[in-house]
Amino acid sequence: MTALVQQLSILLGGKFADKGLPASLGQVQVSDRPDLAPFQCNGALGAAKLAKQSPRDIAKEIAEAIKGDPLIAQTSIAGPGFLNIVPSDTAYEAQANALVSDTRCGATKTDTPKKIIVDFGGPNVAKPMHVGHLRSSVIGDALQRMARFAGHDVVSDIHLGDWGLQMGHLITELLDEKPDLPYFDKDYTGHWPEVPPVSLNDLSRLYPQAAAKAKANEMRMYRSRRATKALQAGQPGYRALLRHFIAVSRAGLEADFDALGVHFDLWKGESDVNDLIPAMIEDFKARGVTQDSEGALIISVARKDDKKKQPPLILLSSEGSALYGTTDLATILDRKTNINPDLTLYVVDQRQGQHFEQVFRAADKAGLMGEDMLEHIGFGTVNGKDGKPFKTREGGVMRLSDLLSMANKAARNRMDEAGIGEGLDEKTLADIARKIGLAAIKFADLRNQRLTNYVFDMDRFTAFEGKTGPYLLYAAVRIKSILRKAQDQGLQNGAIIPQKGEEKMLVLALDGFDMALNNAWEKRAPHILCEHVFELAQNFSRFYAACPILPEKDEARRSSRLALAELTLRQLETGLGLLGLDTPDRM
Ligand code: ARG
Repeated sequence: MTALVQQLSILLGGKFADKGLPASLGQVQVSDRPDLAPFQCNGALGAAKLAKQSPRDIAKEIAEAIKGDPLIAQTSIAGPGFLNIVPSDTAYEAQANALVSDTRCGATKTDTPKKIIVDFGGPNVAKPMHVGHLRSSVIGDALQRMARFAGHDVVSDIHLGDWGLQMGHLITELLDEKPDLPYFDKDYTGHWPEVPPVSLNDLSRLYPQAAAKAKANEMRMYRSRRATKALQAGQPGYRALLRHFIAVSRAGLEADFDALGVHFDLWKGESDVNDLIPAMIEDFKARGVTQDSEGALIISVARKDDKKKQPPLILLSSEGSALYGTTDLATILDRKTNINPDLTLYVVDQRQGQHFEQVFRAADKAGLMGEDMLEHIGFGTVNGKDGKPFKTREGGVMRLSDLLSMANKAARNRMDEAGIGEGLDEKTLADIARKIGLAAIKFADLRNQRLTNYVFDMDRFTAFEGKTGPYLLYAAVRIKSILRKAQDQGLQNGAIIPQKGEEKMLVLALDGFDMALNNAWEKRAPHILCEHVFELAQNFSRFYAACPILPEKDEARRSSRLALAELTLRQLETGLGLLGLDTPDRM
């Protein structure tokens, strides 16, 4: 279906074209003075020079030309030549009922479906997951949901950090603790034990331990580096250990991501492409893509017009180890061979901007993939109230599971305060608290422009008032409860006939869904969808305050409002679902 704003643009565009002017001048937009009219067209201002006429005169001619069209109730001209447009009652009515019949609540699908990889999440096997990974997960998930809903073919990959020095740290630290394990015996020829030699807790203990020692002691660092190199070169015991590390940490991560409601198609990691690296490097060398630099092998990516100095991408360190950029390039090669994406989005902290700039330029230079097919979707940091990156009270990294249980508790407190869920059984209450807690955290993150930093404030996130996740869930649940009562009373939906201003405003809000979705996806900006669902909920509130539903005696009016309420709920739940928010049935 076509949103009203587009129908109007087509109508006005035709009138501009009739005057021999570009139809694009007829672009109608939602008015920034809704008190004057819901829509406006500013094309007359752009047309003046071309038509050698005053903008007001052009606006007058256009207004005259659309007079009597079934879409139009009234027009007026403001200022230098803005054309204000009030749609007709039949336009509102047709639009509302078309939205009801549309299973996608007005959202169109793309005409140009693409194969898209979303690379996000990206936790590291050795290190605990921190709030940066949470942001990546929440934003990446919203993007994968929006892209799928728009009709793209999406493959998401968690892309675990399971290669490089962190693995060398783990191996050497374990060696010091349990030197008798067969993984460290070079002469061992038996099967590798199936039972992992470490637990998740061991992993989170071993890494910081090793990292701290290596920082203080050069020799200790050297051992980690050497172990990393041996692992990459394929030392069987180390490879077997790596498999255990990955499996153990994956089990923990799966539980965490499940709790977060985020799912990946692929659980690949940096280590998966190791075997591709030697041939890739030989090929780069043969084609003259690489250079030697002080013992390291690099790809120079600097360009003449660079404003900032671009350091080269290091393919092999002077010790001969593959680095982060190397695995990212090999991953591009792997994806090209096996998935052949049109577009890859990397949803990763903005502080890795330079890394991705290097990788994309190198991939382009090496002829792997064009830079226009690779996009870094960066984001800002989550800060504590002190303005520094968010930490636990003890100053450590906040773990995802702790963060979620914190949110859960805060949600439960809020419910108790507000008397929400009174009379419901414990299991239902726990489920509601879980949904509210998740909605609080996710929405608080997504509602910001991606690149801005924000302050973590659980109190504000879990409030039932304001632009919060809990407010939106509550708004949806309230409509569910109205609809349940209507059903109990045997009331039916009918055709929507918007009469009052609040009803028309709600229809317009609903009609904005498609544009919000398109913008949010095109700009990779979930906050635009957040804004839409919030506006929708606000408009519903105003409508509900002005237009009684159940007590309304006039049957046509009541059944129209009931249909409008149901449509609102459907679109609200769809929108919230695309942001990764799950609505409870009652509160
Ligand atoms: N493991 C990385 C980190 O924790 C994120 C990985 C992002 N994806 C990628 N293809 N580089 O910073």
